[in-house]
Amino acid sequence: MPRIVEPTPQAIQEAAKRLRGGDVVAFPTETVYGLGADTFNPSAVGMIYAVKGRPANNPLIAHLMDESQARLVVAAWDERCSALAARFWPGPLTIVTTKHDSVPLRATAGLPTIAVRAPAHAVARELLEAFGGVISAPSANRSGRVSPTRAQHVAEEFSDVADLMIIDGGASEVGIESTVVDLSRRRSRMLRLGAVTVADIEAVVGEVDASAVTGQDASPGTALQHYSPRTPAELVDGDDLARILRESRDEAIAMLAISRCSAPGKQHHVIPMPDGADAYAARLYDALREADAVGAARILIERPSQAGGVWDAVHDRLRRATG
Ligand code: TXA
Ligand code: MG
Repeated sequence: MPRIVEPTPQAIQEAAKRLRGGDVVAFPTETVYGLGADTFNPSAVGMIYAVKGRPANNPLIAHLMDESQARLVVAAWDERCSALAARFWPGPLTIVTTKHDSVPLRATAGLPTIAVRAPAHAVARELLEAFGGVISAPSANRSGRVSPTRAQHVAEEFSDVADLMIIDGGASEVGIESTVVDLSRRRSRMLRLGAVTVADIEAVVGEVDASAVTGQDASPGTALQHYSPRTPAELVDGDDLARILRESRDEAIAMLAISRCSAPGKQHHVIPMPDGADAYAARLYDALREADAVGAARILIERPSQAGGVWDAVHDRLRRATG
């Protein structure tokens, strides 16, 4: 059984000790919860892949305190990297650049590049500080499942993992995974949309190639990533919601609705969603898990009518949840 613990100084010390001993630990970040291991311990990193059931070709993000620690694991850190770190770290932005020779290939799924991020969550930073090293961590969910934004979600994902320590840091504020930008080549490239938007990044480093994320995610291994609930989920337009519900009176349906919407039958479970992009993102994964848990035959998600900025990241995750 996993064990959820409060982030007391003793718990942080115990978690750091576990990391030093080659164990994995689940911890909160402002985006989603992570399942961490010592970047420089290949067998500990291997445990992450085993526990998650993660494809071996999908590389991990190295979590660290700041730019000076990032410089220890990268071989190339140009002005774009410095400018983005200065503007967005600590925070929900992951930078991909050439890795340093000292980093085991296990931590990058064999790639010559490494993804680095300085998380903003106070508990993540306390853990990094107590550990003193770099922590490789994917989202703390089984591969292909919805990312966890609460300690309880992690416990549900890994209910059969004996003695997994989960540090409780409350609900993740951002709620969707970090933005990933590839700066390993001259042309800056978006690999994943997030709370730091394309426009935010372009304001700092100039033009960024976002063609890869407006269609399919170009990150290695992510062709397989769906972020899906177990219940079949579909996107519907707000205008169609009332009609679909009327027509399926007897069907158990869970729905994430932005418009005010009353459920015509008691077999319908309505989850009201915020109409602002940041608040919607923060609520999304928790709402998908709630929809999954009510035993509905299908999940309907009202398609947000807005686009641009953080909404683009939300639409990306909704496509994956329903794809
Ligand atoms: O918000 C987040 O990023 C969370 C928290 C825990 O920090 N972590 C997270 O990790 O979402 P994960 O493993 O679920 O997603 C990491 C993404 C994947 O799409 C992966 O392919 C990409 O980052 N990535 C990692 N290293 C890379 C590299 N060297 N080159 C290109 N993409 C990379
Ligand atoms: Mg993930």
